[in-house]
Amino acid sequence: MNVQLEQNNMRTSAVVPLQPPIAGVGVGLRADHFQYIDENKPAIPWFEVLIDNYMMDAGTSLFYLAKIADMYPLTFHGVGMSLGSSDKLNMDYLSRLKKLIQQFKPAYVSDHLCWTSVNGYHSHDLLPMPYTDEAINILIRHIQQVQDFLEQRILIENVSSYLNFKDSAMQEWEFLKLVAEQADCDILLDINNIYVSATNHNIDAMTYLKHIPVERVKEMHLAGYTDMGSYLLDTHAEAVHEPVWELYKKALEKFGSMPTLIEWDNDIPAFSVLQAEASKARVLMQQVHHYAV
Ligand SMILES: [Fe+2]
Repeated sequence: MNVQLEQNNMRTSAVVPLQPPIAGVGVGLRADHFQYIDENKPAIPWFEVLIDNYMMDAGTSLFYLAKIADMYPLTFHGVGMSLGSSDKLNMDYLSRLKKLIQQFKPAYVSDHLCWTSVNGYHSHDLLPMPYTDEAINILIRHIQQVQDFLEQRILIENVSSYLNFKDSAMQEWEFLKLVAEQADCDILLDINNIYVSATNHNIDAMTYLKHIPVERVKEMHLAGYTDMGSYLLDTHAEAVHEPVWELYKKALEKFGSMPTLIEWDNDIPAFSVLQAEASKARVLMQQVHHYAV
């Protein structure tokens, strides 16, 4: 595909990660589990922090984050960059994020291949992009601006989707690959989102995996969807489903023992349930790559 990229999008970013990469299977840090983690120090190699929930000056969440940061490596995962919006970046949001990065030194900082705000309207949903040259150029410009401002690389995550834009000129995997390569950022590959979108749009999830460049993928996500009958909804409210585990095995074969996160955001269960899901992923890593746990 002959994508007409803007001239200034062709440079290579010189920014580097702040910390060595994490390893193994981490769990999303949720307020429901603060006290349990603080008191029991469960054997989890790292936690992912939904960093938008910590952008205040003080409070219980920041208190526990500081305690947990002393015990575990962290990654930061955000929903507020709105990288795909035609609006300018929100520099107040990025300044708050940078301050938290300097304080807690996360191994990775990630956001999504989507848009969440326009003209002052903020959506709680991760809205999908049309797969066009224009959208690619917006994403490249914003990702480069974010990486320059934060002075580190970021990871961008594929979102689940339920509709297609008639203007889309390529498949999602081509779009993701072009954006990551031209913006010179890394990829957080959400295996559940690939399965949900592939099912909803009747495309082949393996074809998606096949086209993602190995050298860009630094982390994977696993989560549970909800079967709505005529489509799958990315609810993060259930255990990981069997077809997603099967796809995860294929991803491990292609990408290696990538750091993997168990995401669970709604109907949050006891921490032991998340640990059991993490153990299942660890066993698969062992089976596929003899990963030492
Ligand atoms: Fe995810």
